[in-house]
Amino acid sequence: MDSSNCETNACSLPQTTDSLFERLSWFYALCREYLFRDHTEEIAHSLFPPAGPAPGTRLLELGCGPGFYACRLSEEFPNLRTTGVDLSFSLIQRAKDRAAARHLSNCSFQRADAHSLPYASGSIDAIVVSRLFLIVPDKEGIVREIFRVLKPSGLCFIAEPTSGFRTRLPLALMWLLARLTTSAAGKYREPQQADVMSRPSFASLIYSQSWAEAGLQYDGWYQYAICRRGTAPVAENSPKTEHLANLIRAQTASAASHFVPPTVDRPVTAAFS
Ligand SMILES: C[S@@+](CC[C@H](N)C(=O)[O-])C[C@H]1O[C@@H](n2cnc3c(N)ncnc32)[C@H](O)[C@@H]1O
Repeated sequence: MDSSNCETNACSLPQTTDSLFERLSWFYALCREYLFRDHTEEIAHSLFPPAGPAPGTRLLELGCGPGFYACRLSEEFPNLRTTGVDLSFSLIQRAKDRAAARHLSNCSFQRADAHSLPYASGSIDAIVVSRLFLIVPDKEGIVREIFRVLKPSGLCFIAEPTSGFRTRLPLALMWLLARLTTSAAGKYREPQQADVMSRPSFASLIYSQSWAEAGLQYDGWYQYAICRRGTAPVAENSPKTEHLANLIRAQTASAASHFVPPTVDRPVTAAFS
């Protein structure tokens, strides 16, 4: 589907509510608030220049859940125009309530599928994705969409957890709660177990697109990708892309390093030099 022609939310979205995140939105919102790490600072350092985003900068948060980052960033940077995207009706409602409680006028939310975004190609300045790839069926399809909707030179920040036990526990508890409280348990679309990606899998997911620049970082609990779209279309399997992919593979084989967020002024490929 050419989702670039789909600026409204009339695209074919699943209308069902067969999602654990729908059913147990309150539980996930609690986990997000009190359990998971807050990466707002890393996101800001990675995506914006030191003076902050330019007025009107358009940022998407994909799989925004209760709108944690969309609200935090909109609050911190009134210049931003932020949209949180999620499939869950009830999490979107929670996110809207959160933004309203904070009187944020630069923050909106839309029910949409990250596999098929209702935004024109090359229309978005920055994208944040946190803890989404754990549970989606087509990771590469989402990275393709991120690449498509980003403007030339647009940046994305992706954070995925790496700790198997800590990552899988919340989803396992959601399955357990669903089983205990509904007769429809077993009909939810989420996997039984969160798919915690290895470093090589994460690297090859990121390098499924022809980024002009991309860097991977690791710390004890998360792996991060910060990617920049080029200013001109890059041919598939171009020598540059292959070269970067090889660098990434070498990087993933090396020991863990501390998070050093690349900035707009410092090319993210510097992480590999
Ligand atoms: C593990 S939560 C992450 C929420 C938030 N980003 C965070 O950092 O806590 C995954 C979220 O992605 C949403 N989601 C799952 N599949 C999606 C899709 N195809 N498109 C958009 N959102 C999706 C779920 O409803 C849920 O809110």
